[in-house]
Amino acid sequence: MKRIRARSAIVTGASSGIGACLAVQLAQQGIHVGLTARRADRLETLARSIQDAGGVAVVAPADAADRQATTEAIGRLEHELGPVDLLIANAGLGRSSPAVGFSAEVVEEIVRVNLIGASVAIEVLLPGMLNRGRGQIVGMSSLAAFRGLPGSSAYCASKAALSTLLEGLRPELRRRGVLVTIVHPGFVKTPMTEQSRHVQPWMMDADRAASIILNGIARGRRRVDFPAPTLALMRLVRLLPAPIFDRIAARVLST
Ligand SMILES: NC(=O)c1ccc[n+]([C@@H]2O[C@H](COP(=O)([O-])OP(=O)(O)OC[C@H]3O[C@@H](n4cnc5c(N)ncnc54)[C@H](OP(=O)(O)O)[C@@H]3O)[C@@H](O)[C@H]2O)c1
Repeated sequence: MKRIRARSAIVTGASSGIGACLAVQLAQQGIHVGLTARRADRLETLARSIQDAGGVAVVAPADAADRQATTEAIGRLEHELGPVDLLIANAGLGRSSPAVGFSAEVVEEIVRVNLIGASVAIEVLLPGMLNRGRGQIVGMSSLAAFRGLPGSSAYCASKAALSTLLEGLRPELRRRGVLVTIVHPGFVKTPMTEQSRHVQPWMMDADRAASIILNGIARGRRRVDFPAPTLALMRLVRLLPAPIFDRIAARVLST
């Protein structure tokens, strides 16, 4: 596997699942990691296990839905780590948002974490990266961004917005030495997918997903979309005409 050329990295949503695996694997590559999420106890436990293995990890808990708290936490991590070359904006909320009982509050909650939370982390770290003329911003989107799916419309919308936001930033930043990588995973076995009662084909474990993501980051890829079968399926789903999509989606995914 290609190694990442960064001295320090910040991972949001590092308290479980993909984020925790990313943090461990980054530390194994000798990269100093800054960890944030809401659950301080889990972050501390993870940091201790990284330190016990000879790595460097610092922690700053914050709720990604709270702009001020997130700004302060990311700033604190960079202060402790020194200049951060890599941001992995991974924190994400996977709540369902059924059409019956539709709630703007649920949409807001999801967008605040998945889109605004990532934007705040970028806002804090990007000026330093631009000053130094190098860095990498990674956004954890989802193959669910490819189409609005029944029961998960707010999640899909938040991830589509994140992908589009980063796509728009990417060309401008690349010319200034800052790479942008958009990650679109399929199903990964984590606490988030444990909540679902739908079929989740081609499920992959979080460690494997993290190593695919880090390999893509190390190669400076613009996108990391995986696994291949789910990607092929979602590309096909994206191409379906609306009446056919509606009929299939209602049968397979309706709540
Ligand atoms: N698992 C999948 O199949 C899959 C597929 C595609 C994309 N993804 C994306 O991958 C990312 C990681 O998800 P995962 O599967 O590893 O799920 P997970 O284990 O539930 O991890 C989600 C992480 O986000 C953090 N988070 C959630 N709400 C937060 C908030 N308000 N403030 C700060 N941190 C918050 C959680 O920490 P706290 O609860 O401690 O705050 C946790 O560390 C997410 O962006 C998800 O959308 C997952």
